[in-house]
Amino acid sequence: MQAIQSYESPAKLILLGEHFVIFGAPALAVPLLDLTTRVTLRQVNAPGAHLGELSWAPATDPHPRHLEAKQRRQARGLLEHAITRVAPNSTSGFLLEAHSSIPLGYGLGSSAAFAVGVTVTLHALLNLHPDASTLSHHAHALEKMVHGNPSGIDEAVVLKGLPLSLRKGEATKLLKLSSPLSLVLASAGSPGSTREAVARVAALREHAPERFASLVAKADALGEAGIAACATGNLCALGALLDRAHALLQKVGVCPPRLDDLVQKARQAGALGAKITGAGLGGFMVALVPPERVERVRAALVASEGELVFSTVVPATTGKT
Ligand code: PMV
Repeated sequence: MQAIQSYESPAKLILLGEHFVIFGAPALAVPLLDLTTRVTLRQVNAPGAHLGELSWAPATDPHPRHLEAKQRRQARGLLEHAITRVAPNSTSGFLLEAHSSIPLGYGLGSSAAFAVGVTVTLHALLNLHPDASTLSHHAHALEKMVHGNPSGIDEAVVLKGLPLSLRKGEATKLLKLSSPLSLVLASAGSPGSTREAVARVAALREHAPERFASLVAKADALGEAGIAACATGNLCALGALLDRAHALLQKVGVCPPRLDDLVQKARQAGALGAKITGAGLGGFMVALVPPERVERVRAALVASEGELVFSTVVPATTGKT
């Protein structure tokens, strides 16, 4: 019988610090456990990387879609790269299937979940038992192929499945959440390119280094205040920090008007705070919402033509992890 391994990874959501994490500010991110990517890898006789069914169905859309040719080529490239790194002398080949409910290219960690799934299943098939940092290193190499030079926050959260904070170049830290976070997300219907958004921010930094440094300092202070607000469960304070983070992201030019509008609508409907999440230029906005106002905020976002609108709860951390 052919060996087979399967692994399910969650989505991730950046609460604070996207973009500025690349320049030294902390990023805070949480797993979204209701959205997942399941990667299944089979050992086959024909050497090399082979693709089976690759499909994704966003949580709010029951109809699975198949990946486009370009996305399949990228998936094959990632699998080939993983094989070269992990099993360069393998005489057998590997057949990959993936099914995801994480919207692709919307800043919720779809590529990190895929990279982690490929890395974990490949090691398991080969009966290798790497430590967490080796897995993270390999997953990061795959993320680099997709995003250029990512900070590492995405695959760290996806791999650990826990809320984390990260400063580039330092070990990730568990982000203590004393209170669950009730969130409502909506997109404006289009994905965003992380590469393009990161390049845009880098160009701004080049053009106005002093102004940019002052934005990074502000993001740094917001990140530290966010870690404290999560630890004490002060959700009103955290909401205000999300609002301020959105203002910083507007200043670096990654907030499209339609997402800005959804952020405003969520606040008006009673959110404690709202911002875009992830690289921007498309993708999702997220609102921190008291549980009793979730339906109201959801309805306001749907009425404002928000797409893929959904709510989720990030559980409080137990302190045992
Ligand atoms: O790929 P996304 O949308 O989750 O963006 C990642 C966050 C950035 O800070 C923009 C890039 C990075 O590497 O941290």
